[in-house]
Amino acid sequence: MAIAALKQLGELPGMINVKMQVEQIIQLKKISKLREQHGLKNQSQSNHLVFTGNPGTGKTTAARLIGEAFAALGILKSSDLDDSDDLPFVEIHHADVISKYVGDSEKTIKAKFNQARGGVLFIDEAYAFVGGDQTHKTGEKVIASIVQLMEDLRDEVMVIAAGYSREMDDFLDSNPGLRSRFSNTVNFPDYSVPDMIQIAQKMLFDQEYQADNDYMNSLANRLWLEKDKKGFGNARTVRNIIEESIRMHSVRISQLDAPTREDLILLMGIDLQLNVQDTLSEKEKLQKAMSQIQARLLEFELREIVTKSSNRTFSGS
Ligand SMILES: Nc1ncnc2c1ncn2[C@@H]1O[C@H](COP(=O)(O)OP(=O)(O)O)[C@@H](O)[C@H]1O
Ligand SMILES: [Mg+2]
Repeated sequence: MAIAALKQLGELPGMINVKMQVEQIIQLKKISKLREQHGLKNQSQSNHLVFTGNPGTGKTTAARLIGEAFAALGILKSSDLDDSDDLPFVEIHHADVISKYVGDSEKTIKAKFNQARGGVLFIDEAYAFVGGDQTHKTGEKVIASIVQLMEDLRDEVMVIAAGYSREMDDFLDSNPGLRSRFSNTVNFPDYSVPDMIQIAQKMLFDQEYQADNDYMNSLANRLWLEKDKKGFGNARTVRNIIEESIRMHSVRISQLDAPTREDLILLMGIDLQLNVQDTLSEKEKLQKAMSQIQARLLEFELREIVTKSSNRTFSGS
């Protein structure tokens, strides 16, 4: 199972930062074991991580796969005798934890940590605990319990706290013990359009669909339009667009008398609604097109600069 989860993470397009971080942790554990066998000292490092990034950049997906992999690899021990409740991945949200009854929130946090022994405890939108009810200081108390449990169960539970970067800073500053307990911050950057095209291809393949060139071109155009809009959801938007086109495809295919296997598999350009474009005026369409071309040019130029500079480094001049 560990191999399966790691393989799955490895196969996700992009996510370089998190892949590197996971590799480091696994190798560190391996070498620590070898050092132990040779009677050498091991400095115990915290496993806890902060994930920053916009919605849809893969934070939850990565955390879940890490939980599965680490639980199966036994990277996090579970010392509890009755560990039948252990789950490789336990997710908590502010709303499920905060209770109006004094002491309840801390109890919930403790129960969640216990469930996550041997795996990952994922705190989504961790900054939501900051502030809130000032009379009872519930959020503050919850964060204090989190700090305590992160220390007490440091070898058994890996805490991953996720959210937008600016807000994660507020979270980390909200208790003096918090920042030092997280070993690293992993940034999940917004996906570029080429990344999202790769993600779309993977999603289609996994769902046993194929797309023609017309579809892929329309999808790229649609993503160039959508990505500058407020509320753009990165890979989540890609998933939504694909699901929408799968519904359109079903409507189209249902009109055929005897659809073939290929009909059932193949998504075509017409299955992607381009209603966004239809509602724009001619001038707006031109402006959009211009800015897309400029963005594409910039991307090419940047790539050239990066290639040139990395060639220089490697040639050892
Ligand atoms: N690199 C990727 N490759 C394939 N699918 C991805 C990738 N990143 C995210 N997704 C998909 O996009 C959706 C949103 O991802 P999620 O992990 O929930 O993002 P976040 O937690 O950062 O908001 C999920 O359906 C997930 O499977
Ligand atoms: Mg998420």
